[in-house]
This record gives sequence, C-alpha cells and structure tokens, in this order.
Amino acid sequence: MDTFSERIENIQAEGAYAVMAKAQALESEGRDIIHMEIGQPDFETFESIREAGKDAIDQGFTKYNPSAGYADLREEIARQAESRGHLVLPENVVVGPGAKPGIIFPLLALINPGDEVLYPDPGFPTYRMAIELANGIPVPVPLVEKNGFAFDLDELEKLITPKTCLCIINSPSNPTGGIARIEDLKRLAELAAKHDFWVMSDEIYSRLVYDGAFPASIGTMDGMRDRAIIVDGFSKTYAMTGWRLGYAIMPAALAEKVSLLLMHAVGCTAGFTQKAGIAALRNCEVEIADVVDEYRKRRDLISKGLNAIPGFHCQKPDGAFYAFPNVKELGISSKELASRLLEEAGVACLAGTDFGPNGEGYLRFTYATSRPHIRRALQRIAEFVDTL
Ligand SMILES: Cc1ncc(COP(=O)(O)O)c(C=O)c1O
Repeated sequence: MDTFSERIENIQAEGAYAVMAKAQALESEGRDIIHMEIGQPDFETFESIREAGKDAIDQGFTKYNPSAGYADLREEIARQAESRGHLVLPENVVVGPGAKPGIIFPLLALINPGDEVLYPDPGFPTYRMAIELANGIPVPVPLVEKNGFAFDLDELEKLITPKTCLCIINSPSNPTGGIARIEDLKRLAELAAKHDFWVMSDEIYSRLVYDGAFPASIGTMDGMRDRAIIVDGFSKTYAMTGWRLGYAIMPAALAEKVSLLLMHAVGCTAGFTQKAGIAALRNCEVEIADVVDEYRKRRDLISKGLNAIPGFHCQKPDGAFYAFPNVKELGISSKELASRLLEEAGVACLAGTDFGPNGEGYLRFTYATSRPHIRRALQRIAEFVDTL
C-alpha cells in the first residue's frame, strides 16, 4: 500500500526538523554539535507561566473546551491586539495548538482549487506546504537582499492575476530577520483592496525586535480589517514551543469556518495551556524585555562574527532570532555547505534553500542559543572556511 493522494505528493519535511534529527544522530555517535538549526528559544518558559499552567492542571482545566478557545483567553488576546492598534473583538480571535493551525486552517477555508497564493521566498516552509494542501497554486515572491529582504512591490504587482486569492507576508521574517517597510505594507493594502485578495500576516516574531525597530501590522491599515488574517502565537516570545499555543485574528465569519475546521481536526487546544497563555499575556513584560536584550547581544555577536569570515556577508537582522548570511562568494551550494558544516565542523544550520529556491546562496543560523555557543560556532565555521 504505497499510493497516496496527489495532495501529499509534494509535501516535504521542514528542514529544521530534518537537520535536527541528523544532528542528534551524530550526537548519539559521540560528536559534539552546536545546534543553530531549529527556531527554538533556549530559555525556559517564564516561571509565572509555568506556575499558571500547573495551577490550571490542579484546577481541572484538563478537559475538552470550546474549539475556538476559552472566552477569557480570546478576550485577553483581543485587548492586547487593540493596544497595538487593531480593532478586534473576541469573536475575531481563534485559538489553536500553535501558530501553524492559524496558517493552514484559514487557507483551507479560503482557497478553491486553482486559486493563486503569493508567499515570500525565502519564507517559512509551512506556507508553501499549506497552500499545496489547500489545492492552491503557490506563487513565490522573491525577497530582495539589497532592500533589507523586503518584497519588491513592483515585482509583486506583476504576479497578481484575477486568480490571486491571498498574499502571505511575514514580518519580522523567518529566515531573514527583516522587517517590512511601512510604505510597502500600505501599498500592499492598496493592491489587496484594488484586486480583492486576502492578506495573511504572520507576526509571530513581532515582539522580538531590536534597536527600536517597529514592526507595523498591515491589519491596522485602512480597509484591511475585512481582508486580513493576523497569525501570532506564544512559542517564540514566551519560550512556549512545546506547550502548543497560538492564535489568528480574522473577520468573524471566517473565524466561524476556521473554528469548524479546528473542531474536526484537533477538537480543541489544551485548557491548561490556554490558562498559562493568559498569564503570559498579563505578566511577562519584564521577562520579554530581558530576553530581547539578550537576543540583541547575540545578534550583534553573530552578525559581526560572520562578517569577519571570508566569503560571508551578513545583514544585521532587525527582528526574530535568525542570521541569514549571503555565502555566494564561497561557490558552494547552500545545501552542500550546510551539510559540510554539520559533518565537518559540528555546526548545525540550515541551507537557505530550505526556505525556497531563492534561498540559494544563503545559510540560516538561529541565534537563540548562548553567547559561548555562538562564539564556538563562529570559530568552527572560520576554521572550516580556511580549509576550502
Ligand atoms: C514564521 C513562523 N510562523 C509560524 C511558526 C509556527 O509556530 P508554532 O510553533 O507556534 O506553530 C514558526 C515557527 O518556527 C515561524 O517561524
């Protein structure tokens, strides 16, 4: 029995999970590997969140609950979104196990077979996979390094057709760390209204920004309230990757459809996780400021260190926790370089092509790891490059 649906034919593993498995296999053979492949904070979930989660288990929040999430969590999310300039009611919020359901279920609810979906390349791999699962046609839009890895809006406009149903954006970006420019977002909002398409804005890194950078949300712009889906979650900001908690904000009619999909696909999100999420939203500003300060130091360390290595050119990322150096001068494909860095230097990172064909010539390093680890990794990479 090895025939599967056409839908699954093009679905591939996420590079980060695949490389992590390979790195762990090498570790089990006794190799010392520095992990810079997966986008996971190295901090523990903040204490007040852990305590709230434990209390919630003791209080019995361990049962089925509403598919779209508990009312008090949806209210808190709406309140916080309002403080960032959104006009949001609890009925616009759908909670799910991680941010990923907030990507895939709205796409399933909106895309008809043959509809075209614009998405960033390089970009988070789930976008393309989710478009394909929804039987849409993925239309990659290149990110341009010389513009701080922004879209070229003229190029994007050329890709719009009468079949364009939706455009996905991600700011701050995985894998580039770039932040979308306000003027680009305004123009995209105008294009969406003119050509009548949806915009999905993945803002999961919006709290992880440095040096006063401001990640504007397209959802706050004129005319976008009825056509924007804002994806966000707790995994990165609150170091809650394994708790599985995220949400998306969208027009109420779409939220109802997405809740139906959640009901049948996952049922609901763990109740104690949601209660921990409320504590996260209410109590963690000091902790967030501390981790952002630490990430900023790591960002400075890695971008300076990579730029000192011959053949590496790294823009200083404004947000998220990824460095995305250009390594084209080395004349080795991204896949081979990433694989040799793992095998020969013991540094696990991702090829830019794990994020789409436009990632050729780049590597992605996660700097959500300690500064001593980053220093050792930089030394190993420099020694490896010397041997080329
Ligand atoms: C841009 C982006 N969106 C969404 C996600 C998924 O987040 P979660 O683990 O909460 O589902 C990630 C995780 O790496 C991400 O980088």
